[in-house]
Amino acid sequence: MQAATSAIVGVHPIDAGLGAEIRGVDLSKPLDRRTGAAILDAWHRHSALIIRNQSLTDPQLIAFSRLFGELEMAPPNKSGSHWIEGYPELACISNITVNGEPVGSLGNGEAIWHTDMSFMAEPPAASLLYSLEIPRRGGATHLANMYKAYETLPGDLKRRVENRVAVHDATYTSAGEVRKKFAAFVGTTDPERAPGARHPLVRVHPATGRKALYLGRRSGASGILGETDSQLWDALWAHCGNPALTWAHEWAVGDLLIWDNRCTMHYREAFDDAERRMMHRTQTKGDAPVAA
Ligand code: OGA
Ligand code: MN
Repeated sequence: MQAATSAIVGVHPIDAGLGAEIRGVDLSKPLDRRTGAAILDAWHRHSALIIRNQSLTDPQLIAFSRLFGELEMAPPNKSGSHWIEGYPELACISNITVNGEPVGSLGNGEAIWHTDMSFMAEPPAASLLYSLEIPRRGGATHLANMYKAYETLPGDLKRRVENRVAVHDATYTSAGEVRKKFAAFVGTTDPERAPGARHPLVRVHPATGRKALYLGRRSGASGILGETDSQLWDALWAHCGNPALTWAHEWAVGDLLIWDNRCTMHYREAFDDAERRMMHRTQTKGDAPVAA
């Protein structure tokens, strides 16, 4: 039998708005309970984790991902099949094409600030992104701490987000592509008419009990229900880009980045399409956001 990874795991906070590095684990082997508990505890404290120098097969990535909860199936590709044959849980994030067909989603462009799949009624909790190939430059993933975003809102904005609901327009992906199913909604500007979930603008994290600002996505007709002053939405987004709330992760092959969609947002820098970037991703099921 393979030896389980020992319980000695190092948690090293990143010098940024959020995040910690976990050292001393080999995720290709089953984890003992104490190690798993330590990783989960660090995830709840730091909202995002980086675990470097891993060498994982797809089944090993899937097995480790289950530490964070039941897995959500990945959205299918354009032809309705799984991105990675035999593994419906895996999404492929890549700009690589084979015979003119993309092998993954998001291409090489910028993926604007968002929280994964917030247009769903029950958006995923954890996202785990594992790097197999990376470009020489660009393609960094930035994360924002949405607890701090809420806590540092100026008093007037904090009052104005109380008990408000935002519409998370499902029309566009974070790479700006139109989701085929929602093509009829292109050009919609009224949040009331947009397809996609309605969620509280301030949510309570089910595990930590902390309040987080939940903006989700800005594309299409996303916005605050019943709000006539569009400056409020703009001011909230401007506030979240504050460097004091963020962390930019520069990738190396073998990195596993894990973020909590309930209290973070992320964006991805563009990179040269002549370069190759290939990530495999899992997500865990989440609950309907609960209002603060
Ligand atoms: C994602 C995503 C960013 C990246 O997988 O949800 O936004 O860095 N990826 O590829
Ligand atoms: Mn994303």
